[in-house]
Amino acid sequence: MQAEPEASSEWDCYIQTANQDTASKLVAYALATDLHVYPEHFAAGVEEVGPHTEHKGPCLALFRGLRSTPECFLSWLGAHPFLKRHIHRVFTLPQCNGKVLSSREELIQDICEYCNPDTVLRINAFPKNLEAYIKERLPPSFHLDAQNFSGVLMALEVGHQLRWAVVPPSVFFRQSCDVPKVFEGSAASAVNKIHEAIEVLGLHQCKQQMRAVIDVGAAPGSWTSFLAATAESVVAIDPAELSPDVAALPNVHHLKMMSQDPQIASAISQALGSEKVLVDVLTCDMNSHPFEACRAVKELIRFLKPGGICIMTLKCRGMGRDRSITFSKLKDFFGDSLEDPPRCIWLLANTKFEATFVGKKK
Ligand SMILES: C[S@@+](CC[C@H](N)C(=O)[O-])C[C@H]1O[C@@H](n2cnc3c(N)ncnc32)[C@H](O)[C@@H]1O
Repeated sequence: MQAEPEASSEWDCYIQTANQDTASKLVAYALATDLHVYPEHFAAGVEEVGPHTEHKGPCLALFRGLRSTPECFLSWLGAHPFLKRHIHRVFTLPQCNGKVLSSREELIQDICEYCNPDTVLRINAFPKNLEAYIKERLPPSFHLDAQNFSGVLMALEVGHQLRWAVVPPSVFFRQSCDVPKVFEGSAASAVNKIHEAIEVLGLHQCKQQMRAVIDVGAAPGSWTSFLAATAESVVAIDPAELSPDVAALPNVHHLKMMSQDPQIASAISQALGSEKVLVDVLTCDMNSHPFEACRAVKELIRFLKPGGICIMTLKCRGMGRDRSITFSKLKDFFGDSLEDPPRCIWLLANTKFEATFVGKKK
């Protein structure tokens, strides 16, 4: 998404996440022009709000000047569980209420002066202790009801700046308990990574059309079962057991061995039915050093057909947001086998020690 300062709509939307990393990922997704995360040009600008370090801060991402109505944006958000499950609260504020106040006392005075006391209010404030502060300080003439309300008092305090507005209930985002923490039907939360990677890279068509897949570091099998839902055949490589329901899938062939086993090539050919069969997708989520995982993947990349996709989790230790050094080493490592440029994405579903490497076979 490109920032276009001159074009803005009337609403700003602050999204509160569980941690600062997630807020930064929401912003990075919006700025990445080649990923398919948000609707095109959906906001005039996006930023991480407030003073923050790489991992600590107010955990807020601001989408300034929504191009659609806030109702449309919230319903779009609700339809994307891979985003929704990372969102704690949403604060939508009309830009016409752009007045910025500098203290909580001033905020209460302003609310008392301009808020219609006939509105039955639900308070949605950031930080949470501002909510208690407002409840305590508002005069008893204000009617507060968190269940049956006719307006939502949105209030935000970031640094020493405060904004507030009363908005219709239709722009109140409810984090319903119906967003599964884990992609439906799966035993392990690891599945959220492969699901999100396919979503953000726009690989739905590739997933629908794939016939054969190799999944390295497959146990207990959530990636394998996700891939087996559309592929004709999935070769799952892991010395550990797959969970019984995954192992029982007729199109899953479990090779109970390490990826570096000398017999691996013949075992794969046998599982695929012929030495000549190449796979459409090669995935790797093994829990080892990124260079070890890369060596394993490079050994198996000859089974990937030209144009086939390789998706690999990099499990790193102590990495900050800037993964460019590791990434450029990997790029060189795969230079002769993957098309340029491979991608390194920090998925919402990745931990702070992980990243996801994606490339296309030459
Ligand atoms: C995080 S788990 C993978 C989770 C899996 N993607 C899922 O969705 O259920 C990592 C797996 O990598 C496997 N592993 C580690 N080193 C391996 C290797 N050299 N070859 C094959 N599997 C390996 C481990 O046995 C472990 O089951």
